[in-house]
Amino acid sequence: MNAAAHPAVTRPMPHVMNTYGRLPMAVSHGRGCRVWDTEGREYLDALAGIAVNTLGHAHPALVAALQDQVAKVIHCCNYYEIPLQEQLAATLCELSGLDSVFFCSTGLEANEAALKIARKYGHDRGIARPAVIVYENAFHGRSIATLSATGNPKVQKGFEPLVEGFVRVPLNDLSAVEAAARDNPDIVAVFLETIQGEGGVNPARWDYLRGLRKVCNERGWLLMLDEVQCGIGRTGKWFAHQWADVLPDVMPLAKGLGSGVPIGAVVTGPRASGVLGPGNHGTTFGGNPLAMRAGVETLRIMREGGLLEHVAAMGQRLRSGLERELAGVSGVREIRGAGLMLGVELDSPCGVLMTRALQAGLLISVTADRTIRLVPPLVINAGEVDEVVARLCPLVTAFLAEPTP
Ligand SMILES: Cc1ncc(COP(=O)(O)O)c(C=O)c1O
Repeated sequence: MNAAAHPAVTRPMPHVMNTYGRLPMAVSHGRGCRVWDTEGREYLDALAGIAVNTLGHAHPALVAALQDQVAKVIHCCNYYEIPLQEQLAATLCELSGLDSVFFCSTGLEANEAALKIARKYGHDRGIARPAVIVYENAFHGRSIATLSATGNPKVQKGFEPLVEGFVRVPLNDLSAVEAAARDNPDIVAVFLETIQGEGGVNPARWDYLRGLRKVCNERGWLLMLDEVQCGIGRTGKWFAHQWADVLPDVMPLAKGLGSGVPIGAVVTGPRASGVLGPGNHGTTFGGNPLAMRAGVETLRIMREGGLLEHVAAMGQRLRSGLERELAGVSGVREIRGAGLMLGVELDSPCGVLMTRALQAGLLISVTADRTIRLVPPLVINAGEVDEVVARLCPLVTAFLAEPTP
């Protein structure tokens, strides 16, 4: 069936709390980078459930592993040893060069754990009111602490009072960090996304990250890099900060790590690994065998399939295709990002493009009002990359040619 026959009106879900403005499409099943809706229409997925479905949909090796795991044990609480936790933690440490992992189930939980580590790290050093440097346009989650760290008033509005202890600075301005340090002796950590996702696909410059590492070393602060969205191979390295050749002290992960199964992790280096001890932190679901198996298999399949090189090549192809097709189109401000995390910033709000793309059989998102975000499954092939470009660019060009209301 043709995706253009897509209904324009949202179907009601009267018993589901109304926290999302949903598009009128329900995925029935998927395969690789394609999904089909309950009416039989086919779509090309350039969103991956917001950077989650690393291996695409229904990857045969992942499906087999999860079926095997479900038939053995799904959940076992952290009162007991869970060998799959050690297995996944060892791989994450090997890939990151860090040395310890706490497992949870979502990105915000990973960030909560990171913030608790920062505060406890401060208390352990005699700082009674530890503060953390955070960023304009950052997004770290929607719990009370993580929305307080988030740099978007729309996310915070209505949930005040916000958690205290955050000092906000602009991205990529080292002098702002140095000024904050001079004004506030209670700072214990710097917390940022290596590439801001929800804030509009804004990369931290590699030299800026190296500068932050230096400041953190000089001042004894923790460098905490939120790689919930940009980690796990998305940029063509295991972790986006590896392009800058720096090591964080704390790295929250989630999204792509389980290829669709909910999972979160905080990976820490020597300065932070011993900060939390028994009784300081915990979660019922975190580290359960099903999620751990999903993480183990995702990383194994990525490694065995040489997925990092593939992401680098496909990312380059996607970027070149967008640059070629949108060259000279008035209203395209910038194409930016790394690997398969790309943003196309327009000069006007373009949320409507999500619906138009859906109608054209393409799943994308728009962040920060005017940035089209492309974060497809990492297994996307060259033909599919070309198809994303071919479906998206005419929509963008037509949108920008419309008279402004
Ligand atoms: C960088 C970053 N951190 C944290 C989160 C929150 O993750 P979750 O939605 O799993 O709580 C997100 C979600 O988009 C994110 O992009």
